[in-house]
Amino acid sequence: MGNSTSTPPARLPKDFMWGFATASFQIEGSTDKDGRGKSIWDDFSRTPGKTRDGGNGDIATDSYARYKEDIALLRQYGVRAYRFSIAWPRIIPLGGRADPVNERGIQWYSDFIDELIKNGITPFVTLYHWDLPQALHERYGGWLNREVVADFEHYARVCFAAFGDRVKYWLTMNEPWCVSVLGYGRGVFAPGRSSDRARSAEGDSSTEPWIVAHHVILAHASAVRAYRESFKPKHGGVIGITLNGDWALPYDDSPENVAAAQHALDDPIYLGHYPDFMHEMLGERLPVFTPDELTLVKGSSDFYGMNTYTTNLCKAGGDDEFQGLVEYTFTRSNGTQLGTQAHCAWLQTYPQGFRDLLNYLYKKYKKPIYVTENGFAVKDEHAMSLEDALHDADRVEYFRGMTDAIARAVAEDGVDVRAYFPWSLLDNFEWADGYETRFGVTYVDYVTQKRYPKDSGKFLAKWFAENVENSGSTT
Ligand code: NOJ
Repeated sequence: MGNSTSTPPARLPKDFMWGFATASFQIEGSTDKDGRGKSIWDDFSRTPGKTRDGGNGDIATDSYARYKEDIALLRQYGVRAYRFSIAWPRIIPLGGRADPVNERGIQWYSDFIDELIKNGITPFVTLYHWDLPQALHERYGGWLNREVVADFEHYARVCFAAFGDRVKYWLTMNEPWCVSVLGYGRGVFAPGRSSDRARSAEGDSSTEPWIVAHHVILAHASAVRAYRESFKPKHGGVIGITLNGDWALPYDDSPENVAAAQHALDDPIYLGHYPDFMHEMLGERLPVFTPDELTLVKGSSDFYGMNTYTTNLCKAGGDDEFQGLVEYTFTRSNGTQLGTQAHCAWLQTYPQGFRDLLNYLYKKYKKPIYVTENGFAVKDEHAMSLEDALHDADRVEYFRGMTDAIARAVAEDGVDVRAYFPWSLLDNFEWADGYETRFGVTYVDYVTQKRYPKDSGKFLAKWFAENVENSGSTT
């Protein structure tokens, strides 16, 4: 693959999808409207000490109420698609397969989807972006219990039946690593369980993240089977999962660190089984797939869904076992360290890593790639004046590099990348970091809820208007 960034890239093909990404709990607010049940993030984020600035999801960017305004903004940026998530507790407030479906929740998303389509924007839907119904957590331990697999499949079926006539792009789960390791290992995400406390001088004996990840994978694969068997024949459409997908480089040339970087890139969904190093590392703590489950999991994604932000430098013996004993190192001065969410530091603006990752995954799995998130948190943006925050030169630089990397990967390396969704349309609730970390290409004044396009949003609108055939922006 080439390294050149000196010549302008060819244009992206006319059916290339681009747009912005968000997630229900991070933007919707209105947590008590229209019969929504509680999610595990409701109480967790309201508990003192769980988010950096004490922020919670009660109001967020008020997007449940202001959805038409958000869609007008998307239109102003000239996007072709929008990635958003459906809140499970709005659809089935108590979460389970025997619990009632909430027609008002269905109606809201139905109206939302219609409004997108009316504005020429393709809906790209995530079914699970971390807001598990609290009732399932209380009833049987949520993701820790095998029951959740059938409940998730049922919830997915309800969504396919209600929206499948208009939604042709589905993601089952967003970033299983965060769900399992941050939610059940380190305890920094809801529901805040800390299996990693089991670490001791004798080593790690954590179990919960592996059980949770196992159920997440099975829930995903069961929903995909349901879609392929019962909905796809009628509606068409594609379905997959999206994973934390950062590029990994060895910290140095030592064989252990080279292996650690490789482990960070392996995953069971596409391999169809857990990678060998996970068996070696976890022994009996690694749950076992039955032969039928292995068949179910293998090939359970029509595409490679990738959330990618950065390049990590990996060392063997770090504490991030799920991604292959990765330890992250930070080398770039304008990068942002994201407190509790990522104990890691990121080699932030490194477009060549992005291009290498696209090439690597495409060669390895031979699946079309959808980049479902990619973004940059400007350091201390929350403390800046509006004027300064709007001129987000570091973020523009980041996106300049990343868009160039995509275009070159497609046009020069022949990688089949079909979509790109920068994170995020708006500044929003950044989980354990509350509102202090801002990823938006649109600034949100949380007092007035007014939205202001930043330079990065304008840059992306212009870049895609110029580099995708038949695109247009009015910004
Ligand atoms: C990944 C997550 O999917 C999203 O919810 C989060 O806000 C961004 N990355 C930024 O950390």
